[in-house]
Amino acid sequence: METVVSGIRPTGNLHLGNYFGALRNFISMQNEHNCYFFIADYHSLTTHPTPGDLYGNVRQVMVEYLAAGLDPEKCTLYIQSDVPETAELYLFLNMNAYIGELERCTSFKDKIRQQPQNVNAGLLTYPTLMAADILIHKATKVPVGKDQEQHLEMTRQFSNRFNRLYNVEYFPEPKAFNFGNELVKIPGLNGTGKMGKSEGEGNAIFLADEPEAIRKKVMKAVTDSGPTEPNQAKPEPIQNIFQLMKVVSAPETLSFFEDQYNSCNIRYGDMKKQLAVDMVTFTEPFRDKIKAISADNDYVAKVMRLGKEKAHESAAKTIREVREIIGFKSF
Ligand code: TRP
Repeated sequence: METVVSGIRPTGNLHLGNYFGALRNFISMQNEHNCYFFIADYHSLTTHPTPGDLYGNVRQVMVEYLAAGLDPEKCTLYIQSDVPETAELYLFLNMNAYIGELERCTSFKDKIRQQPQNVNAGLLTYPTLMAADILIHKATKVPVGKDQEQHLEMTRQFSNRFNRLYNVEYFPEPKAFNFGNELVKIPGLNGTGKMGKSEGEGNAIFLADEPEAIRKKVMKAVTDSGPTEPNQAKPEPIQNIFQLMKVVSAPETLSFFEDQYNSCNIRYGDMKKQLAVDMVTFTEPFRDKIKAISADNDYVAKVMRLGKEKAHESAAKTIREVREIIGFKSF
């Protein structure tokens, strides 16, 4: 059994791309490993220093993860700021993190281009905070996408450096948890690229979307004037619609439209109508659970307290030991 840590950015509602990406894997991992999943609200301040409704956003993310199947009894599901030991470890790690290596980080370079008016020290030390998230539970595996590999490499660097400096074998060397083929790429509805909420209005189907909203978005999905030759290769927008159908519809439905396409008889209007129906059916259990959980304040509060308690237990132990290793004394 591995100790797994992953952070979730509180950046809005979950869409099908999130679900078929990391989330489904989190749900299966919680059965096999000691998992800590947290909502990275400290991190969000690096880009949103004065969030309008921080608690509302965090709560919504929590509700949607619960609705999607994360089980607070099986994993430790918590809010980053509920475990301030993370901030203390961040402080210790920062003392041994070098400006040069932090400045070289790709995500930092991207961020200073995106927000030149707010190049704060939190942005520069984002990788140290992420390392603290991971090392506070002495995690050995971190399920992250390609864009986070450099951060994970820096975490290993900080971990090894700590061990070397204080002459201990304390922190492990956390490795990426590779999903391999289990990551299903979900395209968006705009014709190109993957599903994402920053890719434009109507590109993503959210788990919380109402049926009418889903229907509207699907009917507006980009198509073309149709194939002119039998068995023609599909251009990207068409391939995307077929891929979406593959994940939410019955295999017979998919093969019916495949045949229609291959014989040049396809009517995209009909295909999209069917896709919308299947999309509504697929998302229905999520939608219902999101509503039910969100309406239950006591349950949400209970989950948050439980997560805080479990995460605190593990984090407090690490901080106690780290303080001792560095040489702080408690009286
Ligand atoms: N940086 C991650 C992202 O942008 C989120 C994150 C914060 C994280 N701390 C983490 C992921 C620790 C894994 C482990 O997606």
